[in-house]
Amino acid sequence: MSILGCNREGGRCAEMAMVCLTDFEEYAKEHLSKATWDYYAAGADECCTRDDNLLAYKRIRLRPRILRDVSVSDTRTTVLGTEISFPVGIAPTAFHCLAWHEGEMATARATEAVNTCYITSTYSTCSVEEIVAAAPNGYRWFQLYVYRDRKVSEQIVHRVEALGYKALVLTVDVPYTGKRRNDIRNQFKLPPHLKVKNFDGVFQNAGPEEYGIPANTLDPSISWKDVYWLKSLTRLPIIIKGILTKEDAELAVEHGVQGIIVSNHGGRQLDGGPATIDCLSEIVDTVQGRIEVYMDGGIRTGSDVLKALALGAKCVFIGRPAIWGLAYKGEEGVREVLQILNDEFRLSMALSGCRSVAEINRNLIQFSKL
Ligand code: FNR
Repeated sequence: MSILGCNREGGRCAEMAMVCLTDFEEYAKEHLSKATWDYYAAGADECCTRDDNLLAYKRIRLRPRILRDVSVSDTRTTVLGTEISFPVGIAPTAFHCLAWHEGEMATARATEAVNTCYITSTYSTCSVEEIVAAAPNGYRWFQLYVYRDRKVSEQIVHRVEALGYKALVLTVDVPYTGKRRNDIRNQFKLPPHLKVKNFDGVFQNAGPEEYGIPANTLDPSISWKDVYWLKSLTRLPIIIKGILTKEDAELAVEHGVQGIIVSNHGGRQLDGGPATIDCLSEIVDTVQGRIEVYMDGGIRTGSDVLKALALGAKCVFIGRPAIWGLAYKGEEGVREVLQILNDEFRLSMALSGCRSVAEINRNLIQFSKL
């Protein structure tokens, strides 16, 4: 049957109205190659943690307040002192050119247009210079890994600092890559026409590859003292991504970083770890406002954003949904994903009696049912 002029049987086509983020997921699954789809969708092992990231939101119920004049609502907030249009940014994800030919340049333009934060992945398929040139006024942070060869990390830190990136996001949950079964079955790797552009020529002749990147380049011996090393290299604020416990949150504060992203890497690393929304409260309670706490994993609706903010997140980040937007229509698709999430968030705020982000707090959560 033809739907809005689309002749495809079943499946979702570009002419169909996109109403929610799962519409973009369906489109991406339909249109990307199986190996690419599997790579983006992958979780580790049995995908329990990946799936629980979403299910955990569905277990949380809200306590809406009424008769509070919600005729005007304001979704703006700040991260590290900079205003963004609403508390949702783009998490760092690799290989955007697999989803759309302009890759990270399209993502950067979309986030610039929407005025939110884009965390550029180390494993981008456009270089940081290309990304900055594509969206010169965008607000960006750079996601960093620590390499066995520290000079590689050092050079990229200096490069992004000079380019005007506003913070470094140190990802700490990948001492080794999680076991993603379909990627192994598909022997997934970056196709030869695409490159990890930030490291063009850096790892030449480095031996066997993993995901099209030389294997064993990340340093599994990384520890808290490396946070001091990183601080010695840069004046940029440092945010640690991949914290799931109050103990590590306390250590992060003690080591003088400016923020934490509560994250389990979208369930792609340790399977059997907790859903991120279930870790948020203990971390927020421990940090006590000394640094900003953000989170990612499983955000698919505006009410998910509301729940995360009610439990203390300053801002949340989306990973896979941005890739689905890219696969749908590049820059325009990412903008649509962000716009839908913004509209849904604004509506959830109003329906629960919140006029501004500052009014969102724990009283919105029905703890007796958790
Ligand atoms: C990621 N993630 C990730 N994180 C990071 O620090 N550096 C990276 O290069 C990547 N690459 C990456 C690729 C793909 C395909 C995915 C799905 C994820 C993790 C990412 O930043 C984030 O933690 C999760 O994606 C959040 O979960 P959702 O929003 O995808 O459910």
